[in-house]
Amino acid sequence: KTGMITYDPGFVNTGCCQSDVTYIDGEKGILRYRGYDINDLAEKCEFVDVAYLLVHGKLPSREQHDEFSTNMNYHSLLHEDMRHFFDAYPDHAHPMATLSAMAVSLSTFYPELEDATLQENIDYKVTRLLSKMRTAAAFAYKKSIGHPIVYPRPDLKYCENFINMMFRTPVNSYEVDPVVAKALNKLLILHADHEQNCSASVVKMVGSAGANLYASISAGICALWGPLHGGANQHVIEMLERIITEDKGDVKRVVARAKDKNDPFRLMGVGHRVYKSYDPRAKVAKTMCKDVLEALGVSDPLVDLAQELEDAVLADDYFVERNLYPNIDFYTGLTYRAMGIPTDMFTVMFAIGRIPGWIAQWLEMREDPHGRIGRPRQIYTGHTQRPVE
Ligand code: SDX
Repeated sequence: KTGMITYDPGFVNTGCCQSDVTYIDGEKGILRYRGYDINDLAEKCEFVDVAYLLVHGKLPSREQHDEFSTNMNYHSLLHEDMRHFFDAYPDHAHPMATLSAMAVSLSTFYPELEDATLQENIDYKVTRLLSKMRTAAAFAYKKSIGHPIVYPRPDLKYCENFINMMFRTPVNSYEVDPVVAKALNKLLILHADHEQNCSASVVKMVGSAGANLYASISAGICALWGPLHGGANQHVIEMLERIITEDKGDVKRVVARAKDKNDPFRLMGVGHRVYKSYDPRAKVAKTMCKDVLEALGVSDPLVDLAQELEDAVLADDYFVERNLYPNIDFYTGLTYRAMGIPTDMFTVMFAIGRIPGWIAQWLEMREDPHGRIGRPRQIYTGHTQRPVE
């Protein structure tokens, strides 16, 4: 297929699979969704168009865009019984826990969406999932701060609606800042898919057992939550704050800790399994971070500290020899922070952005005629047979 090497379609049996969705060149720092370069998409598209592209394999026409967006808005409400779910959830629950629980419970409230492999009216199913998960994320945030939820509005676009649901309250006449909406749009595009990463592999693994799309995405949310994966964006900020509070802003100690083999500490937002050059998304995120802070008139000492830490990493042989560069999580948290998004919502934003990619990868796996249940094997290194004494 287009010169692709054909791997075992069972994907988890050999650790490699075949896919048409996303292309990464880790050496050259290239990322393309369905052949479109990430820089072009981030600059010129709306997130809903990139979601359409990932699921359908092509960018939508004007009419397809309008229908997709209309569906997105029309299906943005959650079943009112899900409110009781929120009421019962503890305020201190991490929003990622709430989001994962919401994802799996959606299949209870919308069973007709369970079999999303059926191509007919796939848009109907995909837009409901994309839209409801955004609403659930905003509701999870409101729950975490003890505020009343704000319903989606049909007159707002995807990103504006999300921001409005997050920041409007009954006592403020909140207007969505176009700078924040534009920044969210770009951030969601940067996160929309990334080939066979940990959480996408989990979504496919769970789906390969015949589990419905919601259950598969719920599992992917849990995998993404890990600090070595999507949770890193939250941990980058916590790391930078600790440099200020514990090391008086001196990055040397944290760099030394990261190099110390006796210390399990890793520099958050640095390194990548595939990119052995600068993550192309990190380049976009870095430029965007400075643009958004300037546009919002925000100054944040953590941004200069991040630049200082990046300079130290890029100049240090330990990192250079291991091809360790900033990844997508290094600067994105600083932008979310400037937008007023709280730290414990950073990975939720990553998850909302990643949903179209998870759907596309899940559909591709489910529609693979050779597809089989994921079942890795092992090399056994334990005891040979021995009798019970
Ligand atoms: C994401 O896969 C994807 O595509 C993921 C993602 C996506 O969009 O889905 O891109 C999103 O998860 C980005 C990564 C976010 N995580 C972090 O920023 C956490 C910090 N990074 C590291 O934990 C690490 O770099 C990983 C987890 C990202 C990658 O781990 P690998 O591929 O297993 O790297 P490795 O452990 O084999 O590292 C090779 C060497 C080791 O040293 P040696 O044994 O050769 O002496 O590099 C060292 C590692 O100790 N190393 C680091 C380091 N990352 C790797 N040393 C210090 N700090 C780090 N961050």
